[in-house]
Amino acid sequence: MKTMKILSIETSCDETGISVLEAIQGEKSISLLGNALASQIDLHAQYGGVFPAMAKRAHAEKIVPLMKAALIEAGLLHTSTSTLGNENKEHILSICTYEDEMVSHLIDLFNSYEKPDIDYIAVTVGPGLEPALWVGINAAKVLATVWDIPVIPVNHMEGHVVTAAVSETTVDNKKSYSFQELEFPLLALLVSGGHTELVITNNYGDYAKIGQTRDDAVGEAFDKVARMLGLPYPGGPAVSKLAKAFRSSGAPQPFELPRPMIHSGDYDFSFSGIKTATLYTIRDLQRELTDEDKMALACAFEDAVVEVLIKKTAKAVEEFQTQTIVVGGGVSGNGYLKERLTSYINAKFPGVTTLFPEPWLATDNAIMIGLAAFARIQTKSLFTQDPLSLKANGNLSLA
Ligand code: KG4
Ligand code: ZN
Repeated sequence: MKTMKILSIETSCDETGISVLEAIQGEKSISLLGNALASQIDLHAQYGGVFPAMAKRAHAEKIVPLMKAALIEAGLLHTSTSTLGNENKEHILSICTYEDEMVSHLIDLFNSYEKPDIDYIAVTVGPGLEPALWVGINAAKVLATVWDIPVIPVNHMEGHVVTAAVSETTVDNKKSYSFQELEFPLLALLVSGGHTELVITNNYGDYAKIGQTRDDAVGEAFDKVARMLGLPYPGGPAVSKLAKAFRSSGAPQPFELPRPMIHSGDYDFSFSGIKTATLYTIRDLQRELTDEDKMALACAFEDAVVEVLIKKTAKAVEEFQTQTIVVGGGVSGNGYLKERLTSYINAKFPGVTTLFPEPWLATDNAIMIGLAAFARIQTKSLFTQDPLSLKANGNLSLA
C-alpha cells in the first residue's frame, strides 16, 4: 500500500503550527502522525491585538523546534552522521535574510538528522500578515530545496473550509480525518479575525465569493468589544462566555444593539456599526461598568452578530439552493453560533446539512493546511510550485 506523508506549516497570524499527516493512496481518510502548535496569545494579549513584527519574530524562534517536535512524534527523524556543506549554508542564509533566529535552528536540524520520509511540504502563502507568512514560506523554501521535497502552496481560508468538511475520529490516541461525501456546490461561511465572507464552493480550488464584510471582520469586532469590556485577547471566547452566563441567568436584556445590513438585500456585512453602538452604549451609561452590564452587553453583541450571520447565510441557501453549509475560521468555534445556525437551518431548510469544524481545529493550526493540501491531491487539483518562487500574499483571496 502506497502511503503519502505531508508536512504542513502555518504561520499566517499568531499561531505557529506544524503537523505531519499520512494518507494511504485510494483511501479517503488521513491520519495525524505529529502535531505541534505554539500560540502567541500571551505575547499579544497585553496590546489587545497582533503586532506583525512581534508575530514574525516569535514564529522565527519557534518554527524549527516545533517542526522537530512534530517530526519526532511522527517517528520520522533519524540521527545523521553527515554535516551540511558550505554551499547549503550559504543557500539558507540567502533565503532567510530576516530570520536570524531560524537560520541556526535550520542548520542544526540538517546537521543532526537525515532527510525525513516526507512526500510533500504544504505551506500557507496567504491571506494573513505578510511578515508572519514569510517565516513559514522561507522555512518551506529551505526544507524543500535542501531535502528535495515538492511544495504545495495553500490558501489559509481553504484550510478553514476543508477542516469543517472532515470528521475526526480517535483510535488508540491516534487521530484521523475522513472527508465526508459532500454535495457540491457548498456554501462556505468564513468567519475569522481577518475575514467574514460567504463563498460558493464548486470544488476545492473553485470558489465564487458572493459577499463579504465592508469594514471589520466578525472576529475583529469580538476582539474590539472584548477590549471595551476589559476582557483579554482573543476576545471571542471571553465575550461568548459572558454572553452565555447572561443568557442562563434569565435576566431581562437592558441593551439593544443594531443589526447592520441585515435587510440590505445582498450578502455583504458590516460589523463596525455594532462595535460603535457598543461603545456609545457604554459611554451613555456614564458610570463604571458593573459585572452585570458586561454580561448583558456581551450577550447583546453576540445576539446581534449571530442574527446577522444567520439571516445572510439562510438567504444564500435559498438563492443558491446549496445542500451543505460549511462554517470555518476562528469564530466557527463559537458554540452559540453553531447552535443557533444549525437549528435555524434545520427548521427552515430540512435536508440541508450545516457543518462546523471540531472546536479545537476552528482556530488556526497546521492540520487544516495539510488537509487542504490533501484535498487538492484527492481532487487532482494539486499544484506544486517551484519552492524558490513562493511568495507571501497577505490579501490572497479564495475567489
Ligand atoms: O481563524 P483564526 O484563528 O485566525 C484568523 O485567521 O484570523 O480566528 C481568530 C479570531 C479572533 O478574532 C477570535 O476572537 C475569534 O476568532 N474567535 C472567536 C471564538 N474563538 C475565536 N470568536 C467568537 N467566539 C469564539 N468562541
Ligand atoms: Zn484563520
